[in-house]
Amino acid sequence: MEAGLLKEFNIIMKKENENIAIIFGLGLIGQIAIEAISELNFRIIGIDIKQEKELFNKYNNLIEYKLCDATDEDNVMTTMNKIFSDYKSPNLLINALGVDSKVGTEEEGFKNLANQDGTSFNNALVQGISSYFYTSKFFVINHKKSQTYGKILNIASDLSVIAPDHRIYNENEAISKFKPAHYSVVKHAVVGLTKYFSATFGPDIITNSLSPSGIYQENMSEDFIKKLSSLTPLKRVMTREELIEPIKFLCNPENTFTTGHNLIVDGGRSVI
Ligand SMILES: NC(=O)c1ccc[n+]([C@@H]2O[C@H](COP(=O)([O-])OP(=O)(O)OC[C@H]3O[C@@H](n4cnc5c(N)ncnc54)[C@H](O)[C@@H]3O)[C@@H](O)[C@H]2O)c1
Repeated sequence: MEAGLLKEFNIIMKKENENIAIIFGLGLIGQIAIEAISELNFRIIGIDIKQEKELFNKYNNLIEYKLCDATDEDNVMTTMNKIFSDYKSPNLLINALGVDSKVGTEEEGFKNLANQDGTSFNNALVQGISSYFYTSKFFVINHKKSQTYGKILNIASDLSVIAPDHRIYNENEAISKFKPAHYSVVKHAVVGLTKYFSATFGPDIITNSLSPSGIYQENMSEDFIKKLSSLTPLKRVMTREELIEPIKFLCNPENTFTTGHNLIVDGGRSVI
């Protein structure tokens, strides 16, 4: 992009759109993203399948809360069209959707291969990657109409670049809980989708992904923390605050030449 165009990009990102962001998924990482981009003065439209209106009291920059099932293409299309007709042109989309079993919960998410059936595998692909595709698709289509510039940030995982080490999910030597295969497939797919969108819709749309390792939560067992820490050069588990700066880096309108990137924030776990 020529200097003139770069200037134009910055003006449009900062002024015309008043920096409005859409965040799909208002769970742990969605809320960290709200905090991060509030520091960049974004106003935020939050979207989730669940009603969590109390988030309005918690986050000043959250201006609207919408209900939408991101796995339903028509629902996503209608929701995105409405947002783009109500607001001048939101210039940031963050996909922070997830239906994964959290470590420390005794959910059925951890199963051995014999018990990972095709239906749950296929459902996980729809939940984990079709949803990101739909939200990104209608973000880009609406942007094309409004002829402005925008950014997409897809939350992936350190398991977008490494395979799970099942030992960390099991307190006993014998491994009975397995991170399911679909988790790896979905997270690698998020990186593929990111590369596709960055290559296909640049220069108007900048698309990156962010791959965090497990974020500390109170319900994590000591055993899990110890095992994950021992696999991590920084010898500990990430805190939620440590994801703020990486999100700000990728969402900052001043960051104009980083696209197609998968930023791994894992304390170095994936390098060893
Ligand atoms: N929490 C971590 O430590 C961690 C680490 C690395 C990667 N990740 C990944 O980041 C993503 C977000 O993780 P999280 O910890 O914030 O998860 P979370 O479960 O806390 O939040 C996910 C949110 O997505 C919403 N959601 C689920 N399905 C939806 C749908 N069809 N339509 C609309 N909303 C829907 C849920 O209601 C929930 O509010 C996940 O893909 C997860 O795999 C999480």
